[in-house]
Amino acid sequence: MANDIQNIINKTELNLQDLSQLLNLEGEEQKLLFRKAEEVQLKYVGNKVYYRGLIEFSNVCSKNCYYCGIRKDNKNVERYNISDDDIVNAAVFAWKNRYASIVIQGGERSDNHFVNRIDHLIKRIKEATNAEIGITLSLGEQTKETYQKWFNSGAHRYLLRIESSTKELYEQIHPKDELHHFNTRLNCLHLLRKIGYQTGTGVMIGLPGQTFDDLARDLLFMKEFDIDMCGMGPYIEHKDTPLYKERHKLWHIGKRFNTALNMIAVLRILMKDINIAAATALQAIDPMGREKALKHGANVIMPNITPTLNRKNYQLYENKPCIDEGAEDCGNCMNMRIELANREVGLGQWGDSKHYFNRTNP
Ligand code: 5AD
Ligand code: SF4
Ligand code: FES
Repeated sequence: MANDIQNIINKTELNLQDLSQLLNLEGEEQKLLFRKAEEVQLKYVGNKVYYRGLIEFSNVCSKNCYYCGIRKDNKNVERYNISDDDIVNAAVFAWKNRYASIVIQGGERSDNHFVNRIDHLIKRIKEATNAEIGITLSLGEQTKETYQKWFNSGAHRYLLRIESSTKELYEQIHPKDELHHFNTRLNCLHLLRKIGYQTGTGVMIGLPGQTFDDLARDLLFMKEFDIDMCGMGPYIEHKDTPLYKERHKLWHIGKRFNTALNMIAVLRILMKDINIAAATALQAIDPMGREKALKHGANVIMPNITPTLNRKNYQLYENKPCIDEGAEDCGNCMNMRIELANREVGLGQWGDSKHYFNRTNP
């Protein structure tokens, strides 16, 4: 059996069935997969891990995704919106600590005021950091004009998870209305790529009703779309959301975690030179979750630099780590974690996706 697995791992083309089988591995066979993923990682992207200081600047959201704790209709969340000055200060903290890049993430909004505010912020952050800090946006679905505007102002990477590339599953976890179309999501990813962003996507792993074949198709989707970056992690149920009532269908939390690690390892083998983030949700399950991902494929990590006061209100899922810590704490803790994983921090380096520059098709 271990021999069979070794054969699959060494194939040059992995098909749906191979991928599905690899995603299901545990124990000794999983170790074979992990070994290969680490080998590919060290060979193609090296042993450096890059920081993206994460600023969760607002939990005000206009959408109602069934899985998310800050969805519009959840009345049990206190809404916040960090001031422009505090956002710029967080970016300056990242820059001074040589994080080199930040991620600006928040609930999804697309009103003019919001679009212009972000535009203004991108410019202010560039100014305040001597144009040295790299800016990744994670602000959901927007128009072509908005994406272009933000790109022109200096953002150069964008994260927009497809959540699930299986349309039926996507539709089961989102309301059926104009605001939550699978095709819009897909179209946005195409726009981002066309504009010239380093484009990242990802999925949730272990959604109610999701199968290994669904997840294998997600990996093939990423390969076919030719993404530059990926952030994906386990689905973690939140009691104040509609999807909570489906929890009887869920895989045991350990299985969701294990499968998430397998997804990262297999994606590393499938797309050797992309950037893969060790998702924070991994640490909500296992205190060493993110380190485990860094050992077997992931090369990006996102220390939280959101002002501590606001962190407790940005809980997309339960058990989120680092709620009471400050930016300094997370920074120090993170350095230690990366050393433990036998990796080196790529301080002061943007750590752009190598794949973006290696791409042959635009
Ligand atoms: N569990 C895990 N991940 C979640 N996200 C939202 N809600 C949850 C949850 N309950 C993820 C989505 C989204 C990203 C910002 O957070 O994939 O794209
Ligand atoms: Fe809003 Fe994003 Fe949560 Fe959906 S996943 S409700 S868009 S914050
Ligand atoms: Fe936030 Fe460890 S990374 S406290």
